[in-house]
Amino acid sequence: MATTSATFRMALECSSSTRVISCRDTSVQFISAAATASSFSPKLRPKRIMMISSSSSSSSSSHNTNNAPPGPILLVGVTGGTGRSVLGGLLAAGIHNSSLKVLTRNPQGSAAKWFEAQGVGVIAGDLDDADSLNNVVQGVRAIYCHATSKDGAKADPEGEIRAERLAKAAASAGVEHIVYNSSGSAGFGISQVEQKVMIESIFKDSGIPTTNLRATLFMEEFWKVYTRPQILKGTFPFSMPSHKPLQLVAVKDVGLAAGVSLKNPKEYGGFSLELAGDELTPLQMCEAFSQAQGGLKVNHSRPPKFLFWFFNRDLYRIATFLSDHGYTADIANCRERFPGILKFDQFLQLTKWGDASRMYADGFQY
Ligand SMILES: NC(=O)c1ccc[n+]([C@@H]2O[C@H](COP(=O)([O-])OP(=O)(O)OC[C@H]3O[C@@H](n4cnc5c(N)ncnc54)[C@H](OP(=O)(O)O)[C@@H]3O)[C@@H](O)[C@H]2O)c1
Repeated sequence: MATTSATFRMALECSSSTRVISCRDTSVQFISAAATASSFSPKLRPKRIMMISSSSSSSSSSHNTNNAPPGPILLVGVTGGTGRSVLGGLLAAGIHNSSLKVLTRNPQGSAAKWFEAQGVGVIAGDLDDADSLNNVVQGVRAIYCHATSKDGAKADPEGEIRAERLAKAAASAGVEHIVYNSSGSAGFGISQVEQKVMIESIFKDSGIPTTNLRATLFMEEFWKVYTRPQILKGTFPFSMPSHKPLQLVAVKDVGLAAGVSLKNPKEYGGFSLELAGDELTPLQMCEAFSQAQGGLKVNHSRPPKFLFWFFNRDLYRIATFLSDHGYTADIANCRERFPGILKFDQFLQLTKWGDASRMYADGFQY
């Protein structure tokens, strides 16, 4: 669930002490981790780096018909914890790296340098600064917006204001198309998801044809530090019924869908789509983990979701959504539109899940 990945700041009130945990995290990690909350440590805070393959290129792509309309594409919000992975998908869709430029407040930062090393331009700008945006959007044909604020425990109200600023600047500059990394699971009171619904409206009201890619749960979430180490040891703690299907998408495939949309603005402008590459129950995920780990048996355990009520209400709502409802992407349709969209076992294989020495925080390529 988009937005589920949040930097949750969780205060665990204990009878004798209060422990404050700040971690880049997701519903998966918390839904997984509540059972082991007593072992949390701030020292476990993951680094914010995830690498994708620098060998990904438009030339190796089955989508590389290169019929994209001319003009630069501005990437917004791709320099954080998840955003870099969209580049591989954009390239796989046949978008050329030289047509991309990345907006960041920190053009000297490691993420900016990484994009430059991939042949992608970087431009300084701040969604809090209308003047800088007016400058950045000049001559831009289209925008891919991955985020408008830091991913947090609750929606940052500035996220909508920034989206308004971006939409206004884009409309004035004649930007023709916006593709937005939105979220499935709207209507369940999850603050970050409801904010994405509002941002969809803001972009729509700008008059710029917008494509809303409503992501299901990112597959990358299972790689993170509160989840993967336990799975590698044979336990998959996840607060969902063992037989309840869960829809998933790889972040790279959000980039793939964005790339296909950006190349076909007439078809995808004004279009919303829930996005998933696979659907598995926690038990089936255990089998996939087990296979990727060389056959070691992995068992599903289910921490009770009422615990989340005390940690974080949004997290409780996420757990309830996943347990009682679930995403509703049409996966066959996604496969047809975005050939090559990854299944979970392919994602595990490509990311070399079974190699315990590889850490999400250190970066991985796929
Ligand atoms: N579906 C799922 O399961 C799932 C999982 C994880 C995340 N998500 C969603 O994916 C999105 C990105 O998450 P993330 O974890 O990658 O976020 P993150 O690490 O917090 O990164 C935030 C991004 O927003 C940019 N940003 C923030 N404030 C800005 C400002 N004032 N001006 C310009 N740029 C600004 C940052 O750019 P600079 O700092 O470089 O300026 C950075 O690129 C979020 O919307 C999140 O909800 C979904």
